[in-house]
Amino acid sequence: MTRNKLSVDHLLGIKYLTENDLNLIFQTASHFKEIINRPIKKVPSLRDITIANLFFENSTRTKLSFELAEKRLSADVINFSYSGSSISKGENLIDTISNIIAMKVDIIVLRHPSPGSALFVSKNINSCIINAGDGTHEHPSQGLLDAYSLIEKLGNLKGKKIAIVGDVLHSRVALSNVFLLNTLGAEIKLCAPKSLLPKDIESLGVTATDDLVNTLKWCDAVNMLRIQNERTDVKFFPSNREYSKLFGLDREKFNKVKKDVLILHPGPINRGVEITSDLADSENAIILNQVENGVAIRMAIIYLLASKLKMIDYDY
Ligand code: CP
Repeated sequence: MTRNKLSVDHLLGIKYLTENDLNLIFQTASHFKEIINRPIKKVPSLRDITIANLFFENSTRTKLSFELAEKRLSADVINFSYSGSSISKGENLIDTISNIIAMKVDIIVLRHPSPGSALFVSKNINSCIINAGDGTHEHPSQGLLDAYSLIEKLGNLKGKKIAIVGDVLHSRVALSNVFLLNTLGAEIKLCAPKSLLPKDIESLGVTATDDLVNTLKWCDAVNMLRIQNERTDVKFFPSNREYSKLFGLDREKFNKVKKDVLILHPGPINRGVEITSDLADSENAIILNQVENGVAIRMAIIYLLASKLKMIDYDY
């Protein structure tokens, strides 16, 4: 039976969550998904709570999805972007966040390019921290919405075969997915050029290959990752064209599979590099379902953390 309290006071990474936490987040997200499909999409649960979204890195989906989740819960919301802030005048991260907390902010949603930044802030600031992506480390809310979307389509993930294809080395989405899918009992295969696979990745309980067609034949669902060019100046493969030929999902490779495979992508998509447009927009793709579910998952995360910390009096 799922207990109704999270075991954690922050969402720093999937690796800190128990299976009970995951199931509680999924159950709560299902309630919120029903609510946000009503004509009146809001609940008063967080009406005395203020949340700051601090994005030190670019974002479309995660930033807007968190903001919408907070507004659907009736929280007060403030948004911070790196450009135009006093960081450019030499202020450090802890001072910046301390000043924001001093304005009576209750929850911080943090995206930052440095791995470990969310954990670092949680140890130095007395506030609830939600990691919205810390460099190449973790992207827990993305991992949760990916798994929730898979469960909607495939049911219980125990024994299901999930492939993660592409730039695993630089991907926080890959690591959060690996931790989460392992906890739920799925089988995981990573498919990438050897240069884009972390050393010792198999110690995390996954298998690895560079054969995309056989990976597609093996799996029930494939999560296609973007090449994270912004995280490195070094070339890990000769050209996008060569990468696409071997690791890009296209109709020619997909037609060899002869079974229904679900296609996921965390976004943003580089059409024609890791996936062709016809497959990104095909019936097998659940990419926009992932985005829709992201709002309900983030409502669940915020609601459960706020209720764990006794910030709220209102049920949903
Ligand atoms: N999936 C994801 O993190 O997208 P954004 O970078 O647009 O937030």
